[in-house]
Amino acid sequence: MTAASLIVDGVTRSFTTGRVTARVLGGVSLAIAPGEMTLIVGPSGSGKSTLLAVASGLLRPDGGSVRALDADLWSLPAEAIDRFRLEHCGFVFQGFNLFPALTAVDQVALPLQYTGLVGAAAYARAMEALVAVGLADKAHLHPLALSGGEKQRVAVARAIAKGPQLLFADEPTSALDKENGAKVARLLHTIARRDGATVLCVSHDPRLIDHADRVVRIEDGVLTADERNPSVIPAPPLAMAPPRPEISP
Ligand SMILES: Nc1ncnc2c1ncn2[C@@H]1O[C@H](COP(=O)(O)OP(=O)(O)OP(=O)(O)O)[C@@H](O)[C@H]1O
Ligand SMILES: [Mg+2]
Repeated sequence: MTAASLIVDGVTRSFTTGRVTARVLGGVSLAIAPGEMTLIVGPSGSGKSTLLAVASGLLRPDGGSVRALDADLWSLPAEAIDRFRLEHCGFVFQGFNLFPALTAVDQVALPLQYTGLVGAAAYARAMEALVAVGLADKAHLHPLALSGGEKQRVAVARAIAKGPQLLFADEPTSALDKENGAKVARLLHTIARRDGATVLCVSHDPRLIDHADRVVRIEDGVLTADERNPSVIPAPPLAMAPPRPEISP
């Protein structure tokens, strides 16, 4: 079996609002292999987004650890965690997090500068990613001129453009119609299978479940099921060049 690329070990996290402290993650442990798409499912408020944020270096846990690509993530200084995310992680946020002032192609191209890819090369890579999500003809538009599903696909393009080793996606198909939802599900699975990326998604979407190699269930901040998907739909070839930009020193 392939060695895990992401190991969440005994992670706990609480939030305090006023005088009330609520424990949202109650000691979550999970080892995830590269080359697979792992899906986290569970009821609203069960801690899915919180778990994804802790696993991806965005939210510090109260206890436990995260080992990502052999780095003990939360023991690193803050700048090193930021650098780790920029170099190795792609993230599709539940609320898309697009910049209002940037066009679709700028949203995807500008973050590539942190991987050493600039200018025409960055824009060529950004266009490949927009083609992969079916948005080549909307590359020049700002978020205001994009539908919800188009914004979501820009967010997916931005996350995949740098060819991240760790790809996190929080409800990446929630705003998509049948055809585009299936397209994004296939795309995420193909990135795992073809590039050996570690793909960790959160979703209720049966289309994503069909494409997931493994489905993990969380309820009230505790993992309650962890199953391989015996009828996973095989990942098809992808009309996008393998994205592996050189990282500048
Ligand atoms: N920054 C925060 N401050 C206070 N409470 C928070 C914060 N972030 C999350 N929570 C609480 O933690 C719980 C879990 O939130 P989380 O966003 O992880 O749920 P989720 O499983 O992703 O839900 P959904 O399916 O609705 O997206 C919720 O009750 C939420 O209110
Ligand atoms: Mg959520």
